[in-house]
Amino acid sequence: MTKGLFISFEGTEGCGKSTQVELLARQLRVLGHRVRTLREPGGTPIGEEIRHTLKHSHANAAMTAEAELLLMNSSRAQLVREVIRPALDTGEIVLCDRFYDSTTAYQGYGRELDLEKVKTVIDFAVGETRPDLTLLFTVAPEISELRRAMRQSTLPFMRDRIEESDRKFFQRVDQGFAALAAAEPGRIKVVEASGSVENVFAKIWNLVQPALPKVGRW
Ligand code: TMP
Repeated sequence: MTKGLFISFEGTEGCGKSTQVELLARQLRVLGHRVRTLREPGGTPIGEEIRHTLKHSHANAAMTAEAELLLMNSSRAQLVREVIRPALDTGEIVLCDRFYDSTTAYQGYGRELDLEKVKTVIDFAVGETRPDLTLLFTVAPEISELRRAMRQSTLPFMRDRIEESDRKFFQRVDQGFAALAAAEPGRIKVVEASGSVENVFAKIWNLVQPALPKVGRW
């Protein structure tokens, strides 16, 4: 049995989750918890190389949906064994910016890969390691689109293969996240994230606090 607490953060592009990961980590550390912040794909040296291949490499334009699915889960298999399990075993709080729900939403719903096959690949990658709590950030599609466009115009040298996908793709991704939240309301909590950073943080703090007593402080 793990002693730590595993929280994943999910949502479409530009939903503000990365800012909230950092705010939550800071608050938890102030309270004396040991906290590890991670991102997917990435979070290990191998995973960061895979992330580059998936997102920014100039050689990635021809990547198939199947290769994308497997690369996401290669990064994940490494992260789970190299970092997440050891951290949970020593009682840390792990905050992960995306985890396997992103695979179901992006590769399953977005790329329209067979959902059962996607699930099989995820299960192989993570084994028993599952988030205790998942915060799913939702924002209006126009906000997400605007933030994506701003990112692309301010960082033109950092092309992002996934962010270049079309509007229909992101609509399917949103549908995927909504379906996941409906199927697992106990684990996945939806956070409407169009408000101010402070307002969104107050919402997530209300959701995280009840999970805290099970983890130790230092
Ligand atoms: P981000 O770290 O800026 O959110 O970028 C990660 C990108 O990878 C984002 O476009 C979502 C995508 N992604 C998937 O398609 N499948 C996955 O399993 C994960 C973890 C991320």
